[in-house]
Amino acid sequence: MRLILLGAPGAGKGTQAETLMALFDIPTISTGNIFREHIADNTQLGQRVKTYIDSGALVPDELVIELVKDRLKKDDCHNGMILDGFPRTIPQAEALDIMLDDLNMPIDYVIDVDVADEIIIDRMSGRTVCPNCGASYHKLYKVEKLPGKCDKCDDLLIQREDDTADTVRKRLEVYHSQTEPLIGFYRAQGKLAHVDGVGTFDEVRARIAKALGVI
Ligand code: AP5
Ligand code: MG
Repeated sequence: MRLILLGAPGAGKGTQAETLMALFDIPTISTGNIFREHIADNTQLGQRVKTYIDSGALVPDELVIELVKDRLKKDDCHNGMILDGFPRTIPQAEALDIMLDDLNMPIDYVIDVDVADEIIIDRMSGRTVCPNCGASYHKLYKVEKLPGKCDKCDDLLIQREDDTADTVRKRLEVYHSQTEPLIGFYRAQGKLAHVDGVGTFDEVRARIAKALGVI
């Protein structure tokens, strides 16, 4: 299964990717998580992308495309993968088509997880994340078992620096202007399914499974 999760920041892509990974036994490639790891490790790439991410802007296409190209060649992608947060612009989507053609691994499905902006702003204000594994939690909707600690890694949960109200608004603007056009791009390829992202975690999961034809 080769799958793209499209959707606005905070639509629940990362949350749903966790279950889908286990269901299909394939990795998730989250460009946002990879960048945050580089920032935490203070690598050269991390230093280059930090200002873009902290301000809610997109990282330049060429940096993201090179990163994904290398990642897709790894052995664990042979049975498929979930792309979470990539592609995010038309040039990224075009570059992805070329990369996957070269590897003979075309995308099977593109799921657009649809959530209104006001609901997203509410979700982001209550989110915490694990800096180690990238899992996300919510103070009301997905509460960790031990307060402030990741259920999987035991690491201390943090708030993302780009989750302030102003930056979330900026990220939503960027999403509408630069990423939303991908809906038409993938509809034209006949690969797009819309899923209502509002509801319980299980309801959204079941809608995605139905769109993928696995229930
Ligand atoms: P990235 O990390 O990809 O962030 P994002 O797309 O903005 O999305 P989020 O991770 O914020 O949200 P999500 O959809 O994963 O939601 P989640 O499941 O956590 O990118 C960060 C930055 O990196 C970008 O701004 C950009 O600068 C850069 N970048 C990354 N990729 C790039 C690319 N390809 N090109 C250029 N730049 C790039 O859920 C959110 C919250 O809601 C959580 O608290 C969760 O518990 C809760 N929640 C989830 N589902 C539900 C539900 N059904 N009901 C109630 N609450 C829910
Ligand atoms: Mg995410």
